Amino acid sequence: MQQKFIIDGGKPLIGEIEVQTAKNATLPIIAASILTDEPVRIEKCPHLKDIDAMLDIMRHLGASVEFDGDNLTICCRDVLLNVINSDLTGKLRSSIFILGSILSRCRQAYISHPGGCEIGLRPIDLHISGLKALSVKIADDRGVICCDGSEMRAGVVNLDFASVGATENLMMAGALLDGETVIVNAAREPEIVDLAQFINAMGGRVSGAGGSVVRVTGVKKLHGCTYRPMPDRICAGTYLAAVAATGGSITVNGIIPEHVFGMTERLKQTGARISVHKNSVRLTASERPRPIHKLETNVYPAFPTDMQPQLCAVLARARGSSVIVENLFENRFGYTTELAKMGATITVKDRVAVIHGVEKLSGAALNASDLRGGAALVIGALCAEGRSTVYGVEHIDRGYEYLEQTLAGIGASIKRVDI
Ligand code: EPZ
Repeated sequence: MQQKFIIDGGKPLIGEIEVQTAKNATLPIIAASILTDEPVRIEKCPHLKDIDAMLDIMRHLGASVEFDGDNLTICCRDVLLNVINSDLTGKLRSSIFILGSILSRCRQAYISHPGGCEIGLRPIDLHISGLKALSVKIADDRGVICCDGSEMRAGVVNLDFASVGATENLMMAGALLDGETVIVNAAREPEIVDLAQFINAMGGRVSGAGGSVVRVTGVKKLHGCTYRPMPDRICAGTYLAAVAATGGSITVNGIIPEHVFGMTERLKQTGARISVHKNSVRLTASERPRPIHKLETNVYPAFPTDMQPQLCAVLARARGSSVIVENLFENRFGYTTELAKMGATITVKDRVAVIHGVEKLSGAALNASDLRGGAALVIGALCAEGRSTVYGVEHIDRGYEYLEQTLAGIGASIKRVDI
C-alpha cells in the first residue's frame, strides 16, 4: 500500500516525546539471537519495516518469532541453512552482519550479495576480509556468498575502516570460537556496546566494546536472555533537529545524553538552546537558524552521517551559508533536489553540499527515496509555509516508529493518507 504524508508547515512545535528503541542496535541483536538455541526476549522492540525485514530472514532460517505487544521472543532451536536470497537481502542491505552468527552456530552460511542502495554501493569487502582472517573460506557462486567455516578459528582482524557492520559481524563470529578473537580498529558506535552487552547477557565474553580494540573470548555455549536495547540516538536527533528548524521547544525523554552529544553541539551552533538532563535533552529555538561554516560527518563520537540530511534541512533556512562534507557515503545528498522544490538553494559536488540559507521555504510535492533523506523532507515540510505532500513514506517507515503521531503530539499538522 503506497502512502503519503500531508503536512501543513510553518508552526512552532512544542511538547515532550519518548524516544523509540534503536533500530541499529536492535537489528544486530536480533541477528545475534541465532547464537543460542534458547529463547531470547527483546523488550520494547521498535515496530519498523527494517525490523520486519530482519525477522523475515530469521523465520527463513527456521527461527520462531512472536510479538507480545512490544516484546519480541525469538528462538532458533535449529538453524536451517537456507540461502538468504536476494528477496530478503534486497530489503535490508545491512543484513550481511547475520553471516557471523550463522557461521558461529553452523560453521557454514549462504547469503545473496546485498548490493547497493540509495545512499551508496555498500561494499562488503571488510566483512569478507575479516571473516577470511578467521579462516572462513568464502566463494562467490553467481551472486551467492558461500561461507565454509569448518576450519574457522579465533584470530586477530585488522579493519582498514572502522565499519559498524563488519565489527558486529566479527563479534558474532568470535562468540563461540575457541580462543580470543581481537578486532583492531573496531567501530566505536554505541550500538557496538549494546551488542556486546547483549552477547555478554547470553553468557558471552566480549570486552573493549566502545573502543578501537574489541576482544571476544569464545565460549562453548550461549544461553537465552531478556534484553532491552538502547534508545535510538538518530531518532532523538531527528526530533531535536525538527524543532531547531520550526522553532518551539521539545524535551526528548528516554535517551542517553552522551549518545547525542555530537549532534547537540552542532544544533547549538544553529542558535538552538539545549539543556541536558539525566536521561533527557531539552531544546528550544525561537528565531531563524544560524549557519554552520563547515560540518563534516564522521564515525562516532563525531557528527553522525545518519543525521546529515536532517541538519541540512535545518540549515536550508539559516541566515547565511553552510557547508556539509559527507565522509561516509558517496551518494547521500539525493534529498537536496527535493528540498530545492521548496525553494532551498543547495549546490552539491561529490561529497560536499553548499547550503545558501533562504528566509522561507514553500510547501511542495516531495519524493522521499531513502530513510534519512525522507526525514529531512519531513523537517523541510514542517518549517515551510503552506502544504507539502511527501511521497515514499515506506522509506521513512523503515526507521521511524509512529512518526506522524509523535509529531502531531507536539503540534505538527501531519497526516498519513493512502494513495
Ligand atoms: C551502519 O551501516 C548503519 N546501519 C548505517 O545507518 C550507518 O549510516 C552506518 O553504520 C555508519 O554509521 C545499521 O547499523 C543497520 P559501515 P553499515 O559498515 O554497517 C564502507 C541508517 O540510516 N564500507 O560503518 O553498513 C561503506 O561503504 C543506516 O540507519 C566498506 O567500504 O556502515 C561506508 O562508506 C544508513 N566496506 C562506510 O564504510 C565494507 O565492507 C561506513 O559503513 C563495509 C563498509
